[in-house]
Amino acid sequence: MSRIAYVNGSYVPFQDAGVHIEDRGYQFADGVYEVIYFENGRLIDAEGHLNRLDRSLGLVRIAQPMSRAALLVVIRRMICLNRLPSGILYIQVTRGVSRRDHPFPKDVPPSLVMTVRRAAPPSEDMAQKGVSVITIPDQRWARCDIKTIGLLPNLLGKQTAKEQGAYEAWMVDRDGFVTEGTSTNAWIVTKEGRLVTRNAEPAILNGITRRTLLRLAETLGLTLEERSFTVAEAKVAAEAFLSSTTGYALPVVSIDGQPVGDGKAGQVTWKLRQAYRRAMQEGEI
Ligand code: PDD
Repeated sequence: MSRIAYVNGSYVPFQDAGVHIEDRGYQFADGVYEVIYFENGRLIDAEGHLNRLDRSLGLVRIAQPMSRAALLVVIRRMICLNRLPSGILYIQVTRGVSRRDHPFPKDVPPSLVMTVRRAAPPSEDMAQKGVSVITIPDQRWARCDIKTIGLLPNLLGKQTAKEQGAYEAWMVDRDGFVTEGTSTNAWIVTKEGRLVTRNAEPAILNGITRRTLLRLAETLGLTLEERSFTVAEAKVAAEAFLSSTTGYALPVVSIDGQPVGDGKAGQVTWKLRQAYRRAMQEGEI
């Protein structure tokens, strides 16, 4: 079964899919994106992702490529054409194709590209054993709440993590507070059992998984604190974990080589992960 991509109105064989070399996404990273997980043909948290896409587009002043209803038709068709029950859908919208010039082009339609691919969430073994993170300075711009395709600092951070044998790099702001991971949100559980994650502010992407987990945490009766935490606080926390569309809630068992808590995946993380899986399976998200 050959893969199909969507490029500006056409469904094309994946190997032939391409955009013009003067697409502003290619030349300037002038675009935004979303990643949506789907399981058994059902999109997870689609509304949250599509709302965030609209918000990102609005903030960078790129026109909506099509209505929400039309977008959902293309998305469903892509999942169907690629004959994948589960996987991830990638949506990218750029400011379109025009001669390389910094100001916005006039009367140029945005480019819309979609791909679908098989992607297994981290294995249960990984979820049970947990992963390690390192910490690095946050070198990004001041509007990390916009899901822009300009991901160079994130990529450099992820590569550094990989080269050091870690799963993720937590980025740290100038005041010593953790912002987020290079492609995940960062959480800790204090020794007193409080669940802490940074406030949704321009310094972080307000993860769709983050929001769902906050809601589920409330239903589980956990005490929430949306505030910044330092690397030092994270290192003495009872638990730590990461959240993202593709990883749900994934335990962090070491930070910069130091074990978190007893060095094992924590109970609170586990409960949240289970609650998230249940919400997915029961079609609540
Ligand atoms: N990354 N923070 C950053 C910087 C991210 O890139 C992501 C998602 C998240 C988690 O957001 P969500 O829960 O909405 O997936 C946080 C996606 C998966 C990616 O770039 O592939």
